[in-house]
Amino acid sequence: MHHFAALRFPRTLVYIQQDAPLSSFNIMGIVIAVANQKGGVGKTTTAINLAASFAAAEVRSLLVDCDPQANSTGGLGFARDPERVSTYHLLTADASAGQAVIATELEGLSLIPSHKNLIGANIELVGAEDREFRLRNALESIRGQFDFIVLDCPPALDLLTLNALVAADSVLVPMQAEYFALEGVSELLDTIERLRQSFNPGLMIEGVVLTMYDDRTNLAQQVTQELKRHFGDKLLETIIPRNVRLAEAPSYGKPALLYDVRSRGAESYIRLAKEIMHRRMNPVTVEAPATITEQAPSTAPADEPEDFSNGNQLKRVNES
Ligand SMILES: Nc1ncnc2c1ncn2[C@@H]1O[C@H](COP(=O)(O)OP(=O)(O)OP(=O)(O)O)[C@@H](O)[C@H]1O
Ligand SMILES: [Mg+2]
Repeated sequence: MHHFAALRFPRTLVYIQQDAPLSSFNIMGIVIAVANQKGGVGKTTTAINLAASFAAAEVRSLLVDCDPQANSTGGLGFARDPERVSTYHLLTADASAGQAVIATELEGLSLIPSHKNLIGANIELVGAEDREFRLRNALESIRGQFDFIVLDCPPALDLLTLNALVAADSVLVPMQAEYFALEGVSELLDTIERLRQSFNPGLMIEGVVLTMYDDRTNLAQQVTQELKRHFGDKLLETIIPRNVRLAEAPSYGKPALLYDVRSRGAESYIRLAKEIMHRRMNPVTVEAPATITEQAPSTAPADEPEDFSNGNQLKRVNES
């Protein structure tokens, strides 16, 4: 299936390989958490299709379903099976990550599945001393087997997301271009900042990616401009359009590039993977941890507030 994808997308794949030869890439198990505590913003769609697009670029890719909803698991065609070794068993330290990894239909893409029993880990681990480090510790043993490990987080800043953010090298934040978009994300940014000062000093922001984008609306364009001013170069150039193929693919148990490789949705996630790989190879953007607000372009008017966490800027623009 992998070569099917490669043949259908020869130019894209050759381009990825030319720009990011793995020999010089020298990446080993970069862990990217796809997180936003707001529900339904496209975390799972992004996690599945980004992980699949890495695999299609012949980069060894692992998707870890960290959400009790198990949508990544179902979306890759696996029934929710309580007997299967899953993320739950990694968090309770009842199994190794090696035991949990399963192959998918797409060559180069592996999955650690989830099950709704994972919700119990939130409670079961409450008293455990190393409760925030369970996933990080579990993934350590298999990091070297993958180039990218993508974590699909639940829509909450709970212990599961915390485990993902402690295990991660960086966070990819999917966002919709809508009213109050920033308001929802401020709590996540605060959490990332706190983690940098405690459990995970190296945690970076991979980027903010706009999802379900409808460029026909003025609002979307207006919000995008505003987000660009807030996030600077942390706002990724690749924008994921609203595309019905992306919504349909999970019901066939496939990433979009196996369901309809010519769709705008599949193509946009291939571009996102490519952009992330390019940025990682570019020393200017692979930098020491910095807060998103520090990334704001210096050309911003001086009278703008430094702290955007309450989303006031966005509201003001939208109301005008
Ligand atoms: N670009 C897109 N175009 C069309 N539909 C999309 C797109 N991205 C996501 N969807 C659909 O929107 C819904 C929510 O997406 P998704 O499940 O990826 O969000 P989520 O953030 O993971 O949700 P949750 O917070 O519940 O985990 C799904 O039905 C999905 O198929
Ligand atoms: Mg989800």
